[in-house]
Amino acid sequence: MEKYLSVKDLENAAIELLPKTARDYYKSGATEEQTLTENRKAFQRLRIRPKCLIGVDSTDLRTTVLGHEVSMPVGISPTAMQRMAHPDGELANVKAAQAEKTIYTLSTIATSSIEEVAEAAPHGIKWFQLYIYNDRDVTKKLVLRAEKAGYKAIALTVDTPLFGIRRADVRNRFTLPPHLKLANFEGELANKINRSDSGSGLTEYVKNLFDKSLTWNEIKWLRSITKLPIIAKGILRGDDAIKAIEAGCSAILVSNHGARQLDGVPATIEVLPEIVEAVKDYNVEVYLDGGVTTGTDVYKALALGAKMVFVGRPALWGLAVGGQAGVQRMLSILRNELEHTFQIAGTPTVADITKDMVRHESAYSK
Ligand code: FNR
Repeated sequence: MEKYLSVKDLENAAIELLPKTARDYYKSGATEEQTLTENRKAFQRLRIRPKCLIGVDSTDLRTTVLGHEVSMPVGISPTAMQRMAHPDGELANVKAAQAEKTIYTLSTIATSSIEEVAEAAPHGIKWFQLYIYNDRDVTKKLVLRAEKAGYKAIALTVDTPLFGIRRADVRNRFTLPPHLKLANFEGELANKINRSDSGSGLTEYVKNLFDKSLTWNEIKWLRSITKLPIIAKGILRGDDAIKAIEAGCSAILVSNHGARQLDGVPATIEVLPEIVEAVKDYNVEVYLDGGVTTGTDVYKALALGAKMVFVGRPALWGLAVGGQAGVQRMLSILRNELEHTFQIAGTPTVADITKDMVRHESAYSK
């Protein structure tokens, strides 16, 4: 794994290795992929302002998330169907997160079940990402299973009344390979995704089964069936962050679903300050994902108020390249880059990273 020096190196290797349908599914953004590009570019428009001669001889990347300590402020966002990347799929990914002492989030539409993942990494901090199905009994069972299996939070995805248009999946007529299934389900809910009547099988699955009529009231319903903290995943506006909190959420994950839902929405790092400002009088944590591929990206998000940063695709690239070892390599690359950033920027701990550590490039071109 030592030959991979950056997340980009892992991505390039994964792209070579993956079969076309899986590669296109993992890589794509919605329609023109403008937001996909912006998720990266917006980080590059921010500059770090290091403080010199602070006398930093060691750094401490640890932080706490919803009361649990993690070894660094980088965790893994939910991505569906990870066994397309590696035979061990979600199990390899969660073991890597456990070994690196950080959070792993399991997707509802995973190719390993809630219980299998919990068994693979009994000591890891695991969150369960929830899609709300038309059938509320189905939804409720998922939540109760996650709670029973020791997951620490429910990340409710709020940006997906239906799936965004991902043209590559339509062209490839995406279906899940026949030897795999959506492991949290039985029968139709598990296997419908193995066929496509027209276009992407995944789009059809979501269109038929997910509840498009969701409102903030469903969060109250969710609140009533579980004691686990609920994280609203997919918030891009300050007023929505407030609605989520008022409906009972404990945290906000600023996310545009890896630019896969609606093209033309802002990059997540662009909207982070608005969300942080909107919720400042509430006792909630704010996280971010989308386009994070370097330690300096993580640092910029921390400076703008994120308590934790998550990566989706980078874990898939690591997984495709080397299973658990590949995901651990990805996390250790980010850890190493982050340690360097903490030290050279003169901020030895997470608490030292204040807003003034980062400035938008426009401030330097006046
Ligand atoms: C996702 N994402 C996602 N989100 C979610 O809530 N449930 C899911 O099942 C999935 N599945 C999924 C599959 C793939 C292939 C990707 C790339 C993304 C979105 C994911 O949780 C996260 O928000 C983004 O991946 C973050 O952006 P980066 O790190 O991929 O740039």
